Amino acid sequence: MRWEGFRKVRTQVCKRIARRMNQMHIKSVSDYREFLEKHAEEWDWIEALSHVTISRFYRDKAVFKFLENDLLPLLVKQVSDRKRNLLRVWSVGCCSGEEPYTMALIWKVRLQPQWPNVRLEVMATDVDSKLIQRAKQAAYPYSSIKALPNEWQHQLFDQRNGLFYLKPEYQRDVHFVEQDVRVTTPQGLFDLVLCRNLAFTYFEIEQQHKILDRIHAAIQPDGVLVIGIQEDLPEGTQGFSTCSEKLKIFKKVPL
Ligand SMILES: C[S@@+](CC[C@H](N)C(=O)[O-])C[C@H]1O[C@@H](n2cnc3c(N)ncnc32)[C@H](O)[C@@H]1O
Repeated sequence: MRWEGFRKVRTQVCKRIARRMNQMHIKSVSDYREFLEKHAEEWDWIEALSHVTISRFYRDKAVFKFLENDLLPLLVKQVSDRKRNLLRVWSVGCCSGEEPYTMALIWKVRLQPQWPNVRLEVMATDVDSKLIQRAKQAAYPYSSIKALPNEWQHQLFDQRNGLFYLKPEYQRDVHFVEQDVRVTTPQGLFDLVLCRNLAFTYFEIEQQHKILDRIHAAIQPDGVLVIGIQEDLPEGTQGFSTCSEKLKIFKKVPL
């Protein structure tokens, strides 16, 4: 359960497990281990408790700035060249919606006015049904939105009971689906896939390769993959060339 250099992650997961043990009146980790060995169904709880659910709007701002200024205009051009009018994005492990909604805001506020005939569709998937429900509610504490430009915080959200509710017109382009990336992929091809702070941090190398194959198959020719800024693609990765080493952005190339 430990990852070098991920103190916060460890704390979040350990706290949940301690709470579970407490509920079940189990006093020590070794007693819990024994309980797990005797009750296979308890592993489902462990799996659910181990999801790391840290996210925020505009996380790693430099990445979103690059998307806004360089990458999305290029992708829109590719979409138009192919006589399409829909730009499709997949946010894998979307947590409570912070990442896909950030995409939608950038598109609606900054880019769509330049390309009024192009539409954005963001498919946002997460394995955790509670997070998907929360994402659909689109209500956030200030700490989640504080990296957004000040005027956005006031103009694009309604403030009620100490929470910031994203206005409905900014939610419309984002579709949330409960889905395990190890098992399923949303339908159709995507121009851009964001798979940040999930597979390439928490999954074993073999699983990472399987997920990369899945993502490769789901991306349009010339489409782009963005991973977390502190992540790397596993050794031996094929089918992607580097767009930005620093921002961890990769372009699909044929296998
Ligand atoms: C640390 S958060 C990252 C959120 C967001 N991508 C970001 O970078 O801010 C990881 C998310 O991945 C989700 N997750 C974990 N395992 C998953 C799986 N097998 N399939 C889809 N989502 C998963 C978790 O529920 C959590 O919401």
